[in-house]
Amino acid sequence: MGDARVQNFGIKITGSGSAVPATCLDNQVLTQLVETSDEWITTRTGIRQRRLASFDESLTTLATVASRQAIAASGITPGDLDLIVLTTSTPDDLFGTACQIQAQLGATKAVAFDMTAACSGFVFGMVTAAQFIRGGVYQNVLVIGADILSRWVDWQDRGTCILFGDGAGAVVMQKSETSDRLLGFELKSDGTQNHYLNLPYKGESQQLAADINVTKGTYQPITMNGKEVYRFAVLRVPEVIDKALFHANLSVEKIDWLLLHQANQRILDAVAQRLNIPDSKVISNLAQYGNTSAASIPLALDEAVRSGKIKPGDIIAASGFGAGLSWGAVIFQWGREKE
Ligand code: UT7
Repeated sequence: MGDARVQNFGIKITGSGSAVPATCLDNQVLTQLVETSDEWITTRTGIRQRRLASFDESLTTLATVASRQAIAASGITPGDLDLIVLTTSTPDDLFGTACQIQAQLGATKAVAFDMTAACSGFVFGMVTAAQFIRGGVYQNVLVIGADILSRWVDWQDRGTCILFGDGAGAVVMQKSETSDRLLGFELKSDGTQNHYLNLPYKGESQQLAADINVTKGTYQPITMNGKEVYRFAVLRVPEVIDKALFHANLSVEKIDWLLLHQANQRILDAVAQRLNIPDSKVISNLAQYGNTSAASIPLALDEAVRSGKIKPGDIIAASGFGAGLSWGAVIFQWGREKE
């Protein structure tokens, strides 16, 4: 562990898992909270329902269920894990939640930490994990994307409350000595547009002693300029996928599945159209779950793997985008070698 010598190992992505809360909120019930309609939400977003975490559910419980499935599917045990990367914007504890998941899993050998890149989190997490594996530092890494945005939604803001849901997804990434199935990636950030999508801390100055002030407050509900985020996504996501494909030395026709962050069906359709990818290759489950932030890509991936849609060897172009602003794409081949 921690050997600094540069080596180059391949990566295989060998198991997935996911979990969503039991409580379901459909568009019809939302009309009791804000002035909206099932018709407006469905035609503008494609979302029909979303799952919401109840009081006795937590990020830790959802992420642990998803992680157990991913570990079992990959054929390893929690004790084999070297690293757990939890991507989330909604930790149970601001000091980090990954260690609680490590404890729940009994992954005693694993180092665990949180990382935040909002809805791009899972893609950023996969790429981060890949660096540890490539360098020969770690062999077995669990990457989790999990969010409970319902904690931070303003349930009186119809521009945002219709979009978000809660969930968790996870994958196991492993060292491979025979092939490399993480084919290419590209990550981007632009903080100058940060104001388009925020979950900001706001506080007030509190005087402790003469000339000594601290700030006390809390995080404020999500605010978003939907039109600008929409514009950004439709422009930047095809671009970043093109770059990742270039690094992978692949043409767009080689993609079996386009797996975008599940934000809005219109964004999925527009990106696919710009890239010239047919609808039949676009993975979409946002009708059932809405936008689950860092969870959306691994949740959709896991469903598609379990339903038999995604098969070992299939090439997937995954792209996350959102607050930061941040966006990124990773091209990978599903499953272990010779299945
Ligand atoms: O992870 C990344 C997270 N964010 C996103 O992906 C968001 C990207 N943006 C979007 O998905 C879309 O911009 C929204 C779905 C948020 C909004 O759709 P839009 O087509 O951009 O609608 P709009 O904001 O331009 O609003 C059109 C109209 C407005 O009324 P007026 O001004 O034309 O009279 C809104 O007030 O629709 C109204 N409106 C609603 N009406 C019924 C906004 N929200 C609602 C609503 N129900 N929930």
